[in-house]
Amino acid sequence: MPRKASNLGGRPVFPAAFFPAIIIEGPLLMKLWVLAIVLLTAITASAIAQDRAAEEVYRDYCSACHAPTNVMVSSPKAGVSKDWGPRLGKGLPALLKSAIEGFNAMPRKGTCEDCSAKELESAIRFMVGE
Ligand code: HEC
Repeated sequence: MPRKASNLGGRPVFPAAFFPAIIIEGPLLMKLWVLAIVLLTAITASAIAQDRAAEEVYRDYCSACHAPTNVMVSSPKAGVSKDWGPRLGKGLPALLKSAIEGFNAMPRKGTCEDCSAKELESAIRFMVGE
């Protein structure tokens, strides 16, 4: 039986080459739509990733000592305003400094060595309940 030639060397198959093919060859309006969708997806994805950081950092690092159920006496507990009230009097920058450098039994960077200052700050805001 002769081999069919129709499946060889045709256009690339959906979906791998779908977007690039439309952007290069499609009509202008279609190109704009596809570009808009790609951009929106990228923007939404990065926004979600940022929102998650505070809770994730808290859950993976800070909650070991700052969870409301933790038995450690000296650590201010997440969401407990009477624990944070006096500390907030120092101002957020001072709290962030303690978190970065360590403070008594509070370890440097709350044990999250690769956390940025921004991530630590959002974790603090999350625990304070801001
Ligand atoms: C090993 C336990 C432990 C972990 C993990 C931990 N903390 Fe703490 N943290 C403490 C203790 C204990 C204190 C209270 C220190 C004191 O006032 O003597 C504290 C205090 C703090 C304070 C208040 C500092 C001040 O100046 O009053 C901040 C802010 C803070 N922690 C942030 C964090 C963040 C953010 C994380 C997670 C990235 C984290 N901590 C992880 C134990 C911990």
